[in-house]
Amino acid sequence: MTIPLVKNKQFVYEILGVRKAEKECRYFIGNPQLVGAYSNLYMHDNSEIERNCFILAKDKIEIGVNTTLAYGATVLTGADPNGPKNRLSDLYPPLKAPVIIGNDCWIGANAIILPGVTIGDCCVVAAGSVVTKNVPSGVLVAGNPAVIKKHLNI
Ligand SMILES: CC(C)(COP(=O)(O)OP(=O)(O)OC[C@H]1O[C@@H](n2cnc3c(N)ncnc32)[C@H](O)[C@@H]1OP(=O)(O)O)[C@@H](O)C(=O)NCCC(=O)NCCS
Repeated sequence: MTIPLVKNKQFVYEILGVRKAEKECRYFIGNPQLVGAYSNLYMHDNSEIERNCFILAKDKIEIGVNTTLAYGATVLTGADPNGPKNRLSDLYPPLKAPVIIGNDCWIGANAIILPGVTIGDCCVVAAGSVVTKNVPSGVLVAGNPAVIKKHLNI
């Protein structure tokens, strides 16, 4: 479901089920397309999901303190090649796995984060990258598949 873009609509998302990770917690959610349960989405303080993101919330998703998902980024927590009738389903049974993104991260526009990935603190995911594996803290990853391009001096 896509919520129309209105200002200060945190309360709308909380009615839908989005969780505040801290008691005193302000966050921003643009107008993502979200499939699954809003209650799987844990927003930490000052985190944001910018406009036109796609969020597959079949399992837990955490967006860390001060972390931003830039425009059009995708977070996937599930995979299923169209149920048991599909011949690939023996090879690729339905999967659900959380995505955890740490604090102070910058997930670039149109990046894709695959199910089960954990991203550490202070990471940059370059625009358009596809993150297939866990990312340690303090690095910039880029490309498809995303690889470490540099260690950030912070
Ligand atoms: C990652 C980014 C911040 C650049 O950071 P940087 O520290 O200046 O990185 P550099 O330009 O030095 O690039 C480092 C390496 O990553 C590569 N790289 C950078 N951005 C990349 C991208 N989007 N896709 C693939 N590779 C990329 C560079 O080619 C370079 O590779 P090399 O070392 O093999 O030559 C920038 O490219 C980016 O993606 N910004 C996101 C912009 C965005 O999403 N804006 C939306 C609004 S917030």
